[in-house]
Amino acid sequence: MSHDQSYKQSLEKLQKSGGFRSIHNPVPDNMINVCSNDYLGLQHDSKLYEEFSEELSSAKYRFTAASSRLLTGNSDEYNALETYLKKLYSTESALVFNSGYHINAGILPALTDKHDLIIADKYVHASIIDGLKLSSTDYIRYRHLDYEHLEKILKDKAHKYSSVFIVTESIFSMDGDCADLPKIVALKKKYNAFLYVDEAHALGVRGEKGLGLAEEQNCIADCDFIVGTFGKAIASIGAFVVCNKIFASYVINHTRTLIYTTALPPINLAWTLFIMKKIPQYSDKRAHLQNLQELFVQRANLNADTHIIPYILGTNEEAIRYANNLQNKGIYALPVRYPTVPRNKARIRFSLHAGLSEADIITITNILHSHEI
Ligand SMILES: Cc1ncc(COP(=O)(O)O)c(C=O)c1O
Repeated sequence: MSHDQSYKQSLEKLQKSGGFRSIHNPVPDNMINVCSNDYLGLQHDSKLYEEFSEELSSAKYRFTAASSRLLTGNSDEYNALETYLKKLYSTESALVFNSGYHINAGILPALTDKHDLIIADKYVHASIIDGLKLSSTDYIRYRHLDYEHLEKILKDKAHKYSSVFIVTESIFSMDGDCADLPKIVALKKKYNAFLYVDEAHALGVRGEKGLGLAEEQNCIADCDFIVGTFGKAIASIGAFVVCNKIFASYVINHTRTLIYTTALPPINLAWTLFIMKKIPQYSDKRAHLQNLQELFVQRANLNADTHIIPYILGTNEEAIRYANNLQNKGIYALPVRYPTVPRNKARIRFSLHAGLSEADIITITNILHSHEI
């Protein structure tokens, strides 16, 4: 059999199992979108674009950085954004990367070697898993949100390694449940480990100033690394890590996903800073999102801690059928399947955002109750 024949067969197998993926057409404007990560509903806010356009008329932001940040790709816009982030999180250092994927795949391999250990929640995002795979360390996954299991691993193993890193998301991307960060902080202190928290789904949404779950749970200063991504609630592109000066310097010197890639264009960095400056003021959007979540949960008779609400259906076919039925009724939902979630836990991931109204939630939950779904 020729080589491409085997690829073709493998794709056919995926198709039969309901696991085939494709790139979709853009979401039509007249549909209710419940699967983007635009949690504050900023993506289509024309007032924001108008206000930023005024700034553009006086500033001349370049559209490319043309090289890595370690060559000539750095810019005043990077410096301004990092200075702002440092102040916001009261940390020594902030580093902006091209994406959350670059951070998660790059930093852990840079900071660790064969004398170290990484312990990560079983449900961490694929980008963190790729970071684990790229590391030359041992790594172990603890059962999702099971801190007794985490402690058992720490007790058995921590003393055998020179540095131990505990890695978690704050709000988990596919299950929408929350880490108990103070509990993990207590363990990291007890076993002298470092704590790495990915706030991709909590930035903008949780905490009084929208800094994330570590702000809400009052433990920013106890996290050694906090990662935030700009492509979700911040309606931009890129990501940041806040940490101490030594770690930041180590990251700059050793992280391949920072060193060997072209830096972000100044125009994007300026837009990110423009939005980030507004985030602390968006308490009304955060409160609205919380109301929508409560309404959804109550009407659909579900449990959910956050704006990410998994509606677990089991098989791929059932998730595809639900998504198609929702789409036919004007709700843009997509099936989430293995390997993004465990086998037989295919689902619709309802990802609510502040651009929705209560009437939208009523429409969606009515459909979930109806016999036509
Ligand atoms: C938890 C988590 N971390 C990191 C990322 C990657 O961030 P980015 O989209 O900026 O690459 C994602 C999703 O995309 C995510 O869900």
